[in-house]
Amino acid sequence: MATAQRDAFTAELERLYSVERTLETQLEVVAGDVSIDTLDGVQIGDCRERLYERIETHREETTTHRERLEAVFETTEIEPSAGDVPALEGWIADKEQFNNVVLNDALRPPYYLAAAAKLEELERSAYGGAITLVEGLVADGDLPTAEGADADDVLETLEASYEDEVAMLEDLADLAGGDPIASLLEESDVGPSGRPALDRSGGHTQSINVETVDDLFVYQLSNAFYVEDELVEFYDELAANVGDDHAEILADRRDHARTRRDRLETVFDALGSRPATSRNHTIDGVIEDGRSRVESAPDDRSDRLALETALTIERLQQRCYDELHLLGSHIDYAGSVLEDLEATADEQREIVDRLEDRVRN
Ligand SMILES: [Fe+2]
Ligand SMILES: [Fe+2]
Repeated sequence: MATAQRDAFTAELERLYSVERTLETQLEVVAGDVSIDTLDGVQIGDCRERLYERIETHREETTTHRERLEAVFETTEIEPSAGDVPALEGWIADKEQFNNVVLNDALRPPYYLAAAAKLEELERSAYGGAITLVEGLVADGDLPTAEGADADDVLETLEASYEDEVAMLEDLADLAGGDPIASLLEESDVGPSGRPALDRSGGHTQSINVETVDDLFVYQLSNAFYVEDELVEFYDELAANVGDDHAEILADRRDHARTRRDRLETVFDALGSRPATSRNHTIDGVIEDGRSRVESAPDDRSDRLALETALTIERLQQRCYDELHLLGSHIDYAGSVLEDLEATADEQREIVDRLEDRVRN
């Protein structure tokens, strides 16, 4: 295998290894956060238990995935090592930021459910990128393997984990759209409760507190606004660095991010509020990650990596608008706000489908 290909493969493998290893630790933390036992009520208990169960299953699955990657390292005779994944660091920072501002434990399950789905999207995207690369190497007979090992096994191993990630995402989506969360949001006390905040002192401060479902909605709305604003600039930058075909796709994404940002402004206007300055560290990480990967990639891979970055971003935004729509539907807002969010969530699904097609072909 040529050095550039081997380096690209090693880098993908190291990223995946880092993702699974970080997740093993982080999912333990999240399981602890979710099982905080300060709430009464059957619905809340049921919801928390189901979420806890998913997170535990995810953690066990993650251990299996980490072991599978260790087997791939062995098969391909590469020394196991963990690469940097800024998006994951960002996800952790966002979670800590939320923990510092949430004043009502009943709001943890809906937040963690959405956060878990975003984490899974990051994982799914990491596997998707690695699989695309490995498919090419296997097809060209360029994947080096230890004596007696089969290159197809590497592909199959990665695909098995990818399928697990997709199944977990579906599972989380079922839970989000299911009865436990609905009952929790309808029946629990998500109005001001006066409960003390669980201070993690993670060093992140935020000017707004999250005590009611309305607060959580506005918190996530502000997050979404920050993201769209960053994306307008980032997509512009990405589009300038790729070939014409891809530049057109990325310019479309930029225009769409601008439309979504403008729509969010309308939503804030309808609520009589303004977006708080709420940094979204996950998207900052995805942008940093995407930027450095595209810049350092060999020429024949950089355009594809730019599209993969866009796909990761749009998948995260799909989760974000699904969550906003879910939260919004439990608040008595004017119908037009919900209609806007629903329209955006539907459009996101189409965008993601189209990008998935482009990335695969
Ligand atoms: Fe995994
Ligand atoms: Fe996973």
